[in-house]
Amino acid sequence: MGKFNLFKSRRMGCRGSKEEDDAGGGSKNGGGASGSAGAAAGGSTAAAPAAGPSSGVAQADPRIPMTAKQKYSLVASWKGIHRALEPTGILMFVKLFEENAELLDLFEKFQNLRTRQEQEESLELAEHATMVMNTLDNAIRTLDNPDAFFQFVEQVGSTHRRIPGYNKDYFWKIEKPFLEAVKTTLDERYTENIENIYKIAIRLIIETLVAGFEKAAG
Ligand code: HEM
Repeated sequence: MGKFNLFKSRRMGCRGSKEEDDAGGGSKNGGGASGSAGAAAGGSTAAAPAAGPSSGVAQADPRIPMTAKQKYSLVASWKGIHRALEPTGILMFVKLFEENAELLDLFEKFQNLRTRQEQEESLELAEHATMVMNTLDNAIRTLDNPDAFFQFVEQVGSTHRRIPGYNKDYFWKIEKPFLEAVKTTLDERYTENIENIYKIAIRLIIETLVAGFEKAAG
């Protein structure tokens, strides 16, 4: 659907629809797809520089569903999170446990922290939260190198195989707490546009963690 529209508008944009319509009867096939549809995949073409075989600009990778502009905005916004990795991570986990108290049992080191205050003050939780945030930091920084991104995030997903009782669906439980924690840290910098970008990013990361967890099965 989205891709189809993009593809269509790209073709029309290239030639101009009128010209194409006037090009002579029976030309509805448009002369083939010219093999460039891949460059348009993965989001709107909005402000992305024109990329092509001879442009010298890297083509968008269809596995990363973001435009160059969205990636740029994400990396710029993430600087605000990077400066507050630990409190953002702690808040994320506090929210995770607030809504899914049963998940605490998976964490040997802090399963006894039953109140919000105990969790907020725990060194162990802070350490783990910072490690997870550093992982996200690394993932976001490698979005421009999709092979490295997928290899890294899948590997992190696979490490969760070691956790007794861990279920791959648990990864999705962090989506909402992550977005809420980012919103709290960024405050007025958390615009609708940036929220949308964070949603795309965290979903991609979670899907990849799940894929890594699944691959590690066999
Ligand atoms: C954004 C999503 C997540 C990321 C990036 C992430 C990352 C990590 C990393 C890097 C480790 C350390 C692995 C190692 O020891 O080599 C880890 C351990 C662990 N993760 Fe995750 N994780 C995520 C989500 C979750 C969720 C949602 C849960 C629970 C429901 C969870 C439960 C655990 C547990 C129980 C451990 C082991 C902790 C320990 O050894 O004390 N993770 N995670």
